[in-house]
Amino acid sequence: MRVIIEKNYEFMSKRAAEIIAEQIREKPDSVLGLATGFTPLGTYKELIGMYKKEGLDFSRVTTFNLDEYYPIPSTHPQSYHYYMQKEFFKHININLDHTYILDGLVKDVKAFCRWYEEEIRKAGGIDLQLLGIGRDGHIGFNEPGSSLGSRTRIKTLDAATIKDNARFFGKKEDVPKYAITMGVGTIMDAKRCLLLASGSDKSKVLTKAIEGPITAQVTASILQMHKDLIVIADEKASRDLKNKDYYQHIEKLTEELKTLTIEE
Ligand code: PGA
Repeated sequence: MRVIIEKNYEFMSKRAAEIIAEQIREKPDSVLGLATGFTPLGTYKELIGMYKKEGLDFSRVTTFNLDEYYPIPSTHPQSYHYYMQKEFFKHININLDHTYILDGLVKDVKAFCRWYEEEIRKAGGIDLQLLGIGRDGHIGFNEPGSSLGSRTRIKTLDAATIKDNARFFGKKEDVPKYAITMGVGTIMDAKRCLLLASGSDKSKVLTKAIEGPITAQVTASILQMHKDLIVIADEKASRDLKNKDYYQHIEKLTEELKTLTIEE
């Protein structure tokens, strides 16, 4: 696990975008797992800037989104379909046929979830999965108590998540009660995970997730078992981390290591 602490949201977003851009430059047909919510907005903005200024090429990239409310039409301004078009896809040269988002109105949910998992597998698996963390510790919409081995499926949203997301819908009665989400196991299959956390209201849950015990009550905590996890937190989100100085020390030495020359 690598923990990078940046001074604020803007720097966190720039760092995340650099990591994603590096992935695309190294492997132009990368498969990206994408997230929604407030946290990744700055990252998408930075990536759009890289496309416009430096020609970062998304034409061969495939994407799979983590989750979608259920039921919700894709035209609803709070659907994650709508969000992805508005905040990212319409600004870059991605082939929309290569963008997969869970269907918020599908009738046969089980068959659809199996198909989604199969499409991820056929694409060669997710190279890099972008993640936010919910105030209840969720990744995707894997609410507390979700099986840590779960696959894509329908979930009932936690009351805390409904309350949190009421800010987007206006009132909590309008927030859908369910979501279709990649499972914790689906996320853990990604070759690399990039977890972002910003703001003081994420500091306690981030500490639980990366320094606490691994528990289904904080589904993000399973990421401690991931073979290639990068966490980028801003100052406010990292303020409760017990090992904050240690993470910063490691980052500094890792940078120094890049310039180290060993004499013959
Ligand atoms: P947020 O949501 O980025 O809007 O805080 C994160 C999440 O619920 O995963």
